[in-house]
Amino acid sequence: MKSLRLRLLVWVLLPMLGALALSAWLSWHSARDIALLRQDRTLLASAEVMAERIQWLDGELVARTPPAALAMFASSAHDRVYFEVRDERGNLLAGWPGLIGGTERPGNGIAYASFSFNGEPVRAVTLTRPILRRGNVVRVSVRVAEGRIGFNRLLHALWWPALLRESALLAFALALMLMGLTLGLRPVLRLRRRIEQRAADDLSPIDASELDLELRPIIETLNQYASRLTRQVEAQKRFVMDAAHQLRTPVALLNAQLDVLDHAEVSADVAATLGAMRQCARRQRTLIVQLLALFRAGAHDARQTPPTPVDLLEPVRQSCVELALFADARRLELVVDAPGAPVVVLGHASLLQSIVFNLLDNAVRYTPEGGRVRVAVRPQGDQVEFSVEDSGPGIAPSQRESVFERFNRGDRGDDGGFGLGLAIVREAVRACGATLALGEGAHGRGLRVAVTLRAATARVLP
Ligand SMILES: Nc1ncnc2c1ncn2[C@@H]1O[C@H](COP(=O)(O)OP(=O)(O)OP(=O)(O)O)[C@@H](O)[C@H]1O
Ligand SMILES: [Mg+2]
Repeated sequence: MKSLRLRLLVWVLLPMLGALALSAWLSWHSARDIALLRQDRTLLASAEVMAERIQWLDGELVARTPPAALAMFASSAHDRVYFEVRDERGNLLAGWPGLIGGTERPGNGIAYASFSFNGEPVRAVTLTRPILRRGNVVRVSVRVAEGRIGFNRLLHALWWPALLRESALLAFALALMLMGLTLGLRPVLRLRRRIEQRAADDLSPIDASELDLELRPIIETLNQYASRLTRQVEAQKRFVMDAAHQLRTPVALLNAQLDVLDHAEVSADVAATLGAMRQCARRQRTLIVQLLALFRAGAHDARQTPPTPVDLLEPVRQSCVELALFADARRLELVVDAPGAPVVVLGHASLLQSIVFNLLDNAVRYTPEGGRVRVAVRPQGDQVEFSVEDSGPGIAPSQRESVFERFNRGDRGDDGGFGLGLAIVREAVRACGATLALGEGAHGRGLRVAVTLRAATARVLP
C-alpha cells in the first residue's frame, strides 16, 4: 500500500471495526436477556394462574385452565402456546397428551428450558407445586411453553436501534478522522510542493526550522545528501575547468607558433596544410574559451557574489567592435539602438559580455548575407531590455528549448560553432537574475532574443 493516508486510515479503521463488533455482540446479549426475561415472566405468570386452579374434587385432582392464563400470550406474533398439568405419578390432568415431552422435570420449584418441539423452537417453564389433602402432600407440575416468534421480534426491536446508533457513531468518527488526516498531512504536502517548485539544479539546503518535529530528520538527511552531491558536482566542474585551463596554454602556444609560420616561405602544399592546422588550432582555442565561459557562468553563485551595477552599453560596444569586420564581410546592416547615457544594470561584467557577444555572434553568423541585425537597449522602469533581432532563418518554436542544450546546434551541420553559445547565455542570464525569451523578429521573420535585466538604482556610474 503506497498511500500513507490510506495506511493510517486502515490502522485506525480496523480497531474501530473490532470495537463496533464487540459492542454489537454485547448489546445483542443484553437485548436477548431483556427479551428472555419478559418471555419467562409471562410463562411463569401463566403457569401460576393454572397452578392455582388445581383442586381436589370428589377425591380426585382436577385442573382447569382459565382463559386468563392463555390470554397473557396474546400478541401480534401469534406464537403457539402449549401446556400440560401432571400429577407426581405423571398422569396428565390437563393439556394435550404427549404434547410436551422429552424434557427434564424438576423435583421442586421453577425451571426454564429452551428446546425444540414439533420442529419449532420453544421456551418453557415448569412450575412444581405441593397440593395438600388431609395431611398428605401431592406434587403437581404445570408446564407452559411458547414459540419464539415474539421473543425474536422483541430481540430485534431492542438490538437494531443500538446497532444503528453505534454504526452511525463509527461513520461520524471516520469522517472526522478523514478530515483530521487530511489536515494532519498538510505539512507533508506543503513540503512536497516546496521541493517540487525548486529548480532542477537547486541543491541548496531546505530550511527545516519551521517544519514539524517528525519531518525535520527527513529533511536534514536530505540536506546532507544534497550537500554531498553538491560537493561531488563541484569537484567534477573543477576538474573540467582545470582541464580546460591546462589545455589553454599549449593551444595558445600552438596558435602563436602557427602565426609565426604565416610569413615563412613554404611550398603550396605545406602552406595548405599549415592553413588547415591554423583553422583547427583556432577552433580549439575558441572551444576552450567557450567551455571556460560556460563553467564560469554555471559556477557563479549569486549568494557568494551578488550582482553589481554594470554599464550594459560597455559589452554592447565591445562586441560590436569585435564583430564589425565579420558583419561587414557578410554585408550585414548592423544597427545599434541605445540611449546616449550609460544604462546601468545589475549583473557581472564578464557574464554580461558573454550574453551580448554570443547573441550578437549568432545573429551575425546565421543571418544570410545582405541581411539586417538590430541590437536594442531599452530601459523600462526598473528593468532594462536588451534585444538582438535579425532577418535570418530564425529558430522553429519546437527547437527553442533544445538549442539551449550544450553542443546542440539544431539542424546545422557546418563546423562554424560548437553549440555552446546559447548554453552560456542561459547560465549567465540565470547568474545575473535576469530572464530570457526567444521569439520571432519583425514581420514574423528571423529571430528576436530578449534579455530582461534588473536596472541598478543609480543610472550613471560614479
Ligand atoms: N540568430 C539565430 N538565427 C538562426 N539560428 C540560430 C540563431 N542563434 C542560434 N541559432 C541556432 O541555435 C544553435 C545553437 O546556437 P549556439 O550559439 O548555442 O551554438 P553555435 O552558434 O552553433 O555554436 P557556438 O556559439 O558554440 O560557437 C545554432 O547552431 C543555430 O542552429
Ligand atoms: Mg553561437
